[in-house]
Amino acid sequence: MAKRRLTKALFEFCDRGSEDEVAMKNNRSALDSIKLMPRILNDVSDRNTEIRLFGKKQSLPLIIGPTGPAGFVWYRGEIALAKAANNAGIPFTLSSTGNTSMETIKSLGGGTQWYQLYVWRDIEAAMVTVERVLDAGFEALLLTVDSPTYNNREFDTRNGIVFPPRITIRGSIDSLLHPRWLIGTLGRYVLADGHMPKFPNVYIPEKYSSTNKNNFLVRNDTLSWDFLKRLREAWPRTLIVKGILHPEDAIRCADCGVDGIIVSNHAGNTNDAAIAPIQVLPTIVSAVSDRLTIIVDSGFRRGSDVLKGLAMGADAVAIGRATLYGVGAAGEAGASRALSILSAEIHRTMGVMGLTNLNSLAPDHIVLPSKLNSSDCM
Ligand SMILES: Cc1cc2nc3c(=O)[nH]c(=O)nc-3n(C[C@H](O)[C@H](O)[C@H](O)COP(=O)(O)O)c2cc1C
Repeated sequence: MAKRRLTKALFEFCDRGSEDEVAMKNNRSALDSIKLMPRILNDVSDRNTEIRLFGKKQSLPLIIGPTGPAGFVWYRGEIALAKAANNAGIPFTLSSTGNTSMETIKSLGGGTQWYQLYVWRDIEAAMVTVERVLDAGFEALLLTVDSPTYNNREFDTRNGIVFPPRITIRGSIDSLLHPRWLIGTLGRYVLADGHMPKFPNVYIPEKYSSTNKNNFLVRNDTLSWDFLKRLREAWPRTLIVKGILHPEDAIRCADCGVDGIIVSNHAGNTNDAAIAPIQVLPTIVSAVSDRLTIIVDSGFRRGSDVLKGLAMGADAVAIGRATLYGVGAAGEAGASRALSILSAEIHRTMGVMGLTNLNSLAPDHIVLPSKLNSSDCM
């Protein structure tokens, strides 16, 4: 449905990966290659999908992860996502590149909200944003560390999605061919807000005047562990680092005093040769599960995928595209529909796995590909 409603360029921005999409495909094949080992004759009539995350109870083992274009696919799409998350009883994460101000989302979205931080050219500007996030009342700050340089998304280049944005004949035709999006989303921004979508949460200091604004909006490739320590001092609430794939980096995060990590390859959107998060999860779990909350993402599409992640030691699973397709198709109702499909699948898979609660999921509920052809698959 989102594909029909959105322009080709915007849909592919949401749907496709970087370079040859090897990482994106590997995320899926790695999940598919892990098998579930069901147990039988347990009374599973009363199944409970709740978990506790950072000391708080939530209804499903899911988080809506940050996705920049949410506000482009639907008018104020971030509010739609936050409301859908709240109704489903799970946290929502606002991306740094959202199109609605963090204060508006905090007051209208409801529920548990986290803020994702990208650091642009100026580290001091990022620290000003952190103070604003604190004042706005977000419960967790999530620092994304897997994209110090921009990704090589050739589909976007081919589709004319470039930075700084510019109007092209091809893009205009694509928009005219998708009037529901053109009028319902872009037109609504212009009519209701008086301008095209902006990035109200990106703080650009005075010294970067409008002429060198684009010079400011480049990812900061100087960040180091010192920055994480500084962030830990400045942010008293839950601090999460997103984009960890190496167990030693997970240990360093714990040493810096963060509360949690997201084991992620950014849905295969950054480094096309990166390993799938699910493939490194067991090593990371054995390295830091006693010190950190561990969330995993990238490629999770079905309830059975979520159970695999939990059985391998993750505390929760974050999703990006599933709810982004939902909001792009039908706003809050679409995002809620995506969540209810996942919820029903989690519930159903728990039944066929012989489980009544998610705490009892353990490594012996899964068989890794390396064990599949051996006689001891346990
Ligand atoms: C279109 C798109 C935009 C994204 N934007 C952001 C972002 O702004 N910040 C960020 O930290 N991660 C971003 N991500 C990564 C997601 O937070 C998440 O790691 C990933 O989507 C999970 O994989 P999945 O889409 O297969 O569920 C984005 C992902 C997609 C697909």
